[in-house]
Amino acid sequence: MEEELVLVIDFGGQYCHLIGRRIRDLGVYSEILSYDVTLEALKPFSQWLKGVVLSGGPSSVYEENAPNLSATLLDYLKNNNIPILGLCYGHQLLAQYVGGDVISKNLKEYGITECNIDINSILFQGLAKKETVWMSHGDQVQNLPQGFSTIASTETCPIAGFSSEKEKIYGLQFHPEVQHTKSGNNILSNFLFKICKCSGSWVMDNWIDETLKSIKEKIGKDHVILGLSGGVDSSVVATLLQKAIGDQVHPIFVNNGVLRKNEPEQVVSLFQDKLEFKNFHYIDASERFLKKLKGIIDPEEKRKIIAHTFIQIFEEKAADLKDKYNDIKWLGQGTIFPDRVETQATSKSSAKIKSHHNVALPSDMQLKLIEPLRDLYKDEVRQIGLKMGLPEYIVNRQPFPGPGLAVRCVGEIKEEYLKMLREADYIVRDEIEKTGVHKNLWQYFAIFLPIQNVGVMGDFRTYEYICAIRAVQSKDAMTANFAKLDWTLLERISTRIINEVKGFNRVVYDISNKPPSTIEFE
Ligand code: XMP
Repeated sequence: MEEELVLVIDFGGQYCHLIGRRIRDLGVYSEILSYDVTLEALKPFSQWLKGVVLSGGPSSVYEENAPNLSATLLDYLKNNNIPILGLCYGHQLLAQYVGGDVISKNLKEYGITECNIDINSILFQGLAKKETVWMSHGDQVQNLPQGFSTIASTETCPIAGFSSEKEKIYGLQFHPEVQHTKSGNNILSNFLFKICKCSGSWVMDNWIDETLKSIKEKIGKDHVILGLSGGVDSSVVATLLQKAIGDQVHPIFVNNGVLRKNEPEQVVSLFQDKLEFKNFHYIDASERFLKKLKGIIDPEEKRKIIAHTFIQIFEEKAADLKDKYNDIKWLGQGTIFPDRVETQATSKSSAKIKSHHNVALPSDMQLKLIEPLRDLYKDEVRQIGLKMGLPEYIVNRQPFPGPGLAVRCVGEIKEEYLKMLREADYIVRDEIEKTGVHKNLWQYFAIFLPIQNVGVMGDFRTYEYICAIRAVQSKDAMTANFAKLDWTLLERISTRIINEVKGFNRVVYDISNKPPSTIEFE
């Protein structure tokens, strides 16, 4: 493989990470660095450096303290003829750097717009004269110095793209990394292969090799503990750590009493027996959790109890292990990129969206964090999982919430309700997976509704509970549509649940979308 690197400089734009992702998808390795990177820090990579992309960002280039890239670094890139592509804020920054003007416009342009394209520019080879692009800007580039020409324009933005092919400097006011820009991938591909002359030979295997090497260097002889949920992210981290540092990894798997049928057995058998993690720790704390959840109806309180109890147990175990292995200095986490976006841990200058997930878990444990998947998206993690030899049922597992069945057992949680729910959920999964339609579903599961209703079985009146079924399609769980499952499939599920699970006499199918409903019932 030819070693090559394209750097993405982060100015705090929402789509910054997507740029890195698209470049990797096109077969070129990319790293994201903060705008305050120095030339010194960059020098060790310079032999592989094929190009640089400057991301968008929420600031204005003429604001006081606006994020900027050091002039020495820009001069270095220019003098070495390393191509630079500025996007949105990056476009304005480049214009300013080469001596153009950036002005604030009252007419802001956000969203999809029609753009006139100079198809003679190398950046736009293969595109049409008019292209649909995704714009988001208030400021815009006004004048360009000699040697630079306009290569794209819209009705409200006369310089939506500029370049100097000689200097290999390109700026675009719109976002080629966003799917709404129809030919965005072509533009990025032209930049990478026609302008930066990349070979595109980078594959996931290289990421695995590099990551194993860097884990080994980072951890040395220390030990790492890791909260293992059995889901794809933490399982992939466990496997990477095992491959890099062997028995120095201690995955801790806690049974919180609200797991699905056979789940604890499956996780234990996989990690302890099949994958032979010598320091795998299984803690059955189901009684402790269920005792704390007794009588609790409020969904948020259920969530809090489960999260706090989990942390308590995890800390107890960590303290216990630290007594035995005083080299435990690290906490491994399966944080992936979208988790960090939701907690605003991605950039110095991006705006807060929402707090969620495992990013800030045990903060006072004085352990250093190791998060090898922090820059990856779910589908990339899945690819790595398969390459690392994890079984498909783990790698392609549907998302399962941290509070587990607690948020699917509406109202108070009782052992008998959980037992019924586990059986019904098992049937839902079994029947859906047999048909193969689960490959098009985001999640599919059963819910226990604490409503008794009348039915008739044989010659007898019954007065039992309702089981709801939810199956949704989604890209990212932010929005979701209920799946239009086949009636005969639903009928099979319903018949099996009522026949096989004592306590249910009615099955209903949830036909609501998110929004206004949510995916989980609680
Ligand atoms: P909602 O119900 O909000 O769910 O539409 C969106 C996605 O998030 C999952 N979910 C959770 N995951 N802890 C988690 O780790 C939680 O408390 C939680 N609540 C919901 C849900 O399964 C869906 O994929």
